[in-house]
Amino acid sequence: MDHAPRPARESLLVRAARHEPGARPPVWFMRQAGRSLPEYRAIREGVGMLESCRRPDLVTEITMQPVRRHGVDAAIFFSDIVVPVGAVGIDLDIVPGVGPVVAQPVATRADLDRLPELTGEHVPDITESVRLLVAELGDTPLIGFAGAPFTLASYLVEGGPSKTHARTKALMHADPALWHDLCARLAQISGEFLRVQVEAGASAVQLFDSWAGALSRRDYEEFVQPHSRVALGAVADLDVPRIHFGVGTGELLASMGAAGAEVVGVDFRVDLDDANERLGGRYALQGNLDPALLFAPWEVIEAHVRRIVTQGRAAAGHILNLGHGVPPETDPDVLTRIVELVKSLGE
Ligand code: CP3
Repeated sequence: MDHAPRPARESLLVRAARHEPGARPPVWFMRQAGRSLPEYRAIREGVGMLESCRRPDLVTEITMQPVRRHGVDAAIFFSDIVVPVGAVGIDLDIVPGVGPVVAQPVATRADLDRLPELTGEHVPDITESVRLLVAELGDTPLIGFAGAPFTLASYLVEGGPSKTHARTKALMHADPALWHDLCARLAQISGEFLRVQVEAGASAVQLFDSWAGALSRRDYEEFVQPHSRVALGAVADLDVPRIHFGVGTGELLASMGAAGAEVVGVDFRVDLDDANERLGGRYALQGNLDPALLFAPWEVIEAHVRRIVTQGRAAAGHILNLGHGVPPETDPDVLTRIVELVKSLGE
């Protein structure tokens, strides 16, 4: 099948993700669309986060902002990991400075009734937004994304952000049958959300399991990996590369790759050459400049970007990114300068 337009499918990003050689790594930034940009803050004035994710005019404009400003090699679809669970009826909000907050957390089997399967009919606006974007982006690829079952389950079970994921882990171990049924639903929802984006024209996908690093490898493989495999498997027949990312996942890199990705996202805690060794050289890597370094003098940033690009050359492919999202206080000019530097390395 061939959904995305030709040029985007031959872009540096897609080629690196497919382990094909390129003159330089493609570069984009997690959370490139967002509060670090004054034009984002202006357009979001008085509009709630969830509402802005469901309005194609805003989604397309916000997704395009960092592409225009920085000249990044990929756009990331402006949305949020909780959008699809909201679309099937979970009552939630995204609170500024806090994150997703769920009105009635999931605690019992009866709560699964509030979490029906996702179909394209729940999210016609997502299809429309992706179509508009792909037309506007031309040969710049659009990365679709979804939250992975574990990270979504954490928000649903905790009712909001959590540092320890204590309730989530307690449920996982105390009632494994309920845990697996909850994650199976979430895997269907995440997988279908990815599928909708690819069928509308996204050229690659990223599954965010941001908080999986809270788990041991043993628990990850028993309670999480099978469900992430289903979510990633939902687009396996659509011929788009899949990126799998989490924070603090140094112990889980091989298991996350084995869940069904072509690219493993690496946070800033693991050097890319260590990551490549742990992955047996079989995956493209994405990462991993420490976002904190965006506040260091340019010479420091430049040295680290050059080191990361050099380390990335040993892998099957490399996509330059941060080790986690752009902090809201970042000077956007620094991001532009990083893009210029990486592009100059291919000349
Ligand atoms: O630019 C992009 O990366 C695309 C858009 C994007 C958002 N959220 C927009 C957003 C993406 C890919 C996400 C994914 C997401 N959402 C993740 C996984 C990535 C990660 O950071 O690990 C997670 C864990 C969430 C849940 C979530 N939503 C959090 C933790 C927050 C931040 C809360 C805060 O205000 O500090 C949100 C809100 C959110 N999602 C914002 C944006 C731009 C901020 C909303 C605002 O402008 O007020």
